[in-house]
Amino acid sequence: MSTLVIIGAQWGDEAKGKIVDVLGAEAEFVVRYSGGNNAGHTVIVGDEEFKFHLLPAGILYPHVVAVLGGGMAVCPRSLVEELDRTLAKRPEIGTLVVSPAAHVVLPYHKLLDQLEEEARGSNKIGTTSRGIGPCYTDKVQRTGIRMGELVEPNVFRERLSDVLKVKNQLLAMFGHPPIDFNALYTEYLGYAERLRPYVKDCELLLQTAVKEGKRVLFEGAQGTFLDLDHGTYPYVTSSHPVSGGACLGTGVGPRDIDSVLGVCKAYTTRVGSGPLPTELTDAVGDRIRGQGHEYGTTTGRPRRCGWLDLAALRHSCRINSLSGLVLTRIDVLAGFDEVRAATHYSKDGQKLAHFPCCVHEWEGVEPVWTTMPGWDGDIRSARSLEDLPQSARNYIRFVEEQTETPVAILSVGPDRAETIVLRPDLVWI
Ligand code: IMP
Repeated sequence: MSTLVIIGAQWGDEAKGKIVDVLGAEAEFVVRYSGGNNAGHTVIVGDEEFKFHLLPAGILYPHVVAVLGGGMAVCPRSLVEELDRTLAKRPEIGTLVVSPAAHVVLPYHKLLDQLEEEARGSNKIGTTSRGIGPCYTDKVQRTGIRMGELVEPNVFRERLSDVLKVKNQLLAMFGHPPIDFNALYTEYLGYAERLRPYVKDCELLLQTAVKEGKRVLFEGAQGTFLDLDHGTYPYVTSSHPVSGGACLGTGVGPRDIDSVLGVCKAYTTRVGSGPLPTELTDAVGDRIRGQGHEYGTTTGRPRRCGWLDLAALRHSCRINSLSGLVLTRIDVLAGFDEVRAATHYSKDGQKLAHFPCCVHEWEGVEPVWTTMPGWDGDIRSARSLEDLPQSARNYIRFVEEQTETPVAILSVGPDRAETIVLRPDLVWI
């Protein structure tokens, strides 16, 4: 096996960063393929904590080539800041390559993200305000500026001057003062200077790596139910977190993907608005939030919490054609007398056969619960399945049965060492 895609199997924040960090040790390339600095990964190495928004978590390994793929929306200001912050702690990091096809997030994207959210009133999406939606809107509208254009001063000047005229008219519609061309151009020319050495063709680089059998890890951002096409639209992000996005956002074809792992928490969380069928707005939900420190890495917002949604997870396994699951944060559920999971949904007393598509279909959808004995004790010290309490093992077995997907890796705590590989054939460790 040489190519492995890691995706978020729920609504994001499944602790993908840790798994990418663990598997990145054996990878030669770690590639992000969608989203931008709306993502947030926390990686803990010993006593040190790293928070990444744009850089692939694998960059911490000096031997790794860390790629920002063409499917991404890159904020140059944030990228430069993140690079400097990481280099200050770790002078020796991997080699960064940024695709010239990636789209540039500019200040007008951020402003429009905020102004459009305000205009939505009670129908807010709850975006991260990082300008991601407006940047991808420009991409689809064919007015976006790409990284390959940013680093060519004359091309950038021409493209920016055209686009900014329209954006300033839009800002005026919202009653916002215009953005000054010269100030914006000069600031971003500075970032372009810093980033130019990293902007190189990625498609051939990755296709060659795959052909040579090098280990390439595709690092998904966000989660399946935030996917523009497969998520709970319109309460989604504007890119493709699903496994198919790895091909779209890098130029590596579908037959070149060997394995797909879906990271899921032992429970459910979501930030922002939109359907969350197993959400608990009671003391149990608060307890999960407290035990799991469930606050957003990017925005610090409290995450909505609930029991595991197996109906959603089953759907996610199919959409992503998962080879296996990575079940994380099973330690967070320790101490509950009973744990629950939704095996399917019902509406008007009928079992739902499909995952609701349009948002109005979610009205009246109820989770159908299975309750199981909980577990306690020092889960984090477990280093094999046998070290876990029987009830925790039963829970894992139940997840596998319900999703018809094997649990390939178990994460029992945030540290690299707190990882149990159950299916070495599906990973490369
Ligand atoms: P946007 O990506 O900033 O446009 O936000 C759209 C939706 O996706 C909002 O509900 C965000 O909270 C959510 N979202 C975006 N990135 C992440 C992430 O990395 N983790 C979890 N939710 C996210």
